[in-house]
Amino acid sequence: MRYLLVLLISFSLSFAAANPPIKDTTGTGLVLSTHVLANEIGKNILDNGGNAIDAAVAVGYALAVVHPAAGNLGGGGFAVIHLADGKNLTLDFREVAPLKAGKDMYLDDKGEVIQDSSTIGYLAAGVPGTVKGMSAMLEKYGTKKLSELIAPAIKLAEKGFILNERQEETMLESKNIFSQFESSKKYFLKKDGSTYKSGELFVQKDLAKTLNLIAKEGADAFYKGKIADLIAADMQKNKGIITKEDLEQYEVKWREPVQGTYRGYDIISMSPPSSGGAHIIQILNVMENAPIGDLGFASSQTLHIMAEAMRQAYADRSEYMGDPDFVNIPLDKLMSKEYAKEIYNKIPEKKALMSEKVKPGLGSMHESNNTTHYSVMDAKGNAVSITYTINGSYGSGAAVNGAGFLLNNEMDDFSIKPGVANLYGLIGGEANAIEPKKRPLSSMSPTIVLKDGKVVMVVGSPGGSRIITTVLQVISNVIDHNMNIAQAVESPRFHMQWLPDEIRVEPLGIIKDVKDNLEKMGYKISEQPYMGDVNAIMIEPQTGKILGAKDTRQEF
Ligand code: GLY
Repeated sequence: MRYLLVLLISFSLSFAAANPPIKDTTGTGLVLSTHVLANEIGKNILDNGGNAIDAAVAVGYALAVVHPAAGNLGGGGFAVIHLADGKNLTLDFREVAPLKAGKDMYLDDKGEVIQDSSTIGYLAAGVPGTVKGMSAMLEKYGTKKLSELIAPAIKLAEKGFILNERQEETMLESKNIFSQFESSKKYFLKKDGSTYKSGELFVQKDLAKTLNLIAKEGADAFYKGKIADLIAADMQKNKGIITKEDLEQYEVKWREPVQGTYRGYDIISMSPPSSGGAHIIQILNVMENAPIGDLGFASSQTLHIMAEAMRQAYADRSEYMGDPDFVNIPLDKLMSKEYAKEIYNKIPEKKALMSEKVKPGLGSMHESNNTTHYSVMDAKGNAVSITYTINGSYGSGAAVNGAGFLLNNEMDDFSIKPGVANLYGLIGGEANAIEPKKRPLSSMSPTIVLKDGKVVMVVGSPGGSRIITTVLQVISNVIDHNMNIAQAVESPRFHMQWLPDEIRVEPLGIIKDVKDNLEKMGYKISEQPYMGDVNAIMIEPQTGKILGAKDTRQEF
């Protein structure tokens, strides 16, 4: 039913009026996340004098309670921040490989990948960064106390919240994984082993205790104190390798954003270890060579140019991208207008290129599915775009006993064996091989679009490898096709990631004539489920009003 609704909405939206954009009813700003309770908490912070950074921290903790499939304490992510004074910043709170991690840790004696070893259980977890990330943002640019911002999340964990239909579905999907771990069984399954249903109250007492400790003692509780003890003890008991030393040594990094331009707009996005920002800029640079607006939304010519730009970007990703503290990435070249022109000039007029000819194949790329994005904008002009994750749906499936939160399976975002595809079918190379304290490559693409120094859009999405193409299509829909933010978010999407050599389209996301044209050009078109869960904000150019849009897809 949910899919039918989405299908009807998304198919009609690009050609007719979308649901109207969400309005800022109190004039203090807007918060768009995947859960209405988290939105209310963030908005309340803005209404009570907090800025966008305060609201972002409150929402980060709220989602850790009401969206346990992706919201987290046990994962990591990226924030792209625009301050009202004009500064653009990014915060990298991505997980790192534990000190005891090694290149071959997921391979057997024959050098083959041990099934599920990088995706399920304690060994799949990287050292979490979220709690330090939230504190780092708040200490530098927030105005409120951490305890005040966590308080609503504590209440929701302590008293419970009502589960929705999607949560019933995802908990059922993860039932077998939860049941492998004593802690997760206790937290996510009922006493009889069955899963929770929509409409039921979901209470997380141990999580409330953990949040209380963080509220009182700050991030130190997690990285040095009682919570660190619980993580280390559970790791030891369950063949995990994260130690107290790993937690003590974890550091967030303030990094320069990657910046590009697209038809007079400034694109501010996440720099490596996310590949997202650089490849969004690379693909937009290629598109800028063509009159995409005149060629039309979702026309065969537009799709052809965009698909070829995407193909080259993902081929480059597999070869060059990794943690910039460990590998040299030719970022300037990848994001240059000259390189984009070279790529554009190689696109044949009415013919698909072939992935095997675009780059010597390194295999396909590897990454997982469950992530969440939220966008915040305050009335003062501060904007925060955050994508954070525990990687797969409910992460590694292993919760920290006594602490009530799930651990990520972000180690799977490394190329665990170069050339072997990850959860997202992405193929990685040596640049993304496992090393202690290294950050795994990501596609998360929290992005802010500016015009003349002022925020125009705050945007991002979950979706693993599809994040990059999802975010750039929303940006193009606004800039090239003059859509409002709701239309831009709802319109059908497509995706091409070099390998597999196909254009992935959403159900009814392509008109038959266009499909026929593309097939004649040599493309393989593959219809697959909906992509992404965008939460975006846009400043209406004519009025300066803050408007938002929430994806109805909710892929995750
Ligand atoms: N775990 C998904 C990503 O980082 O792109």
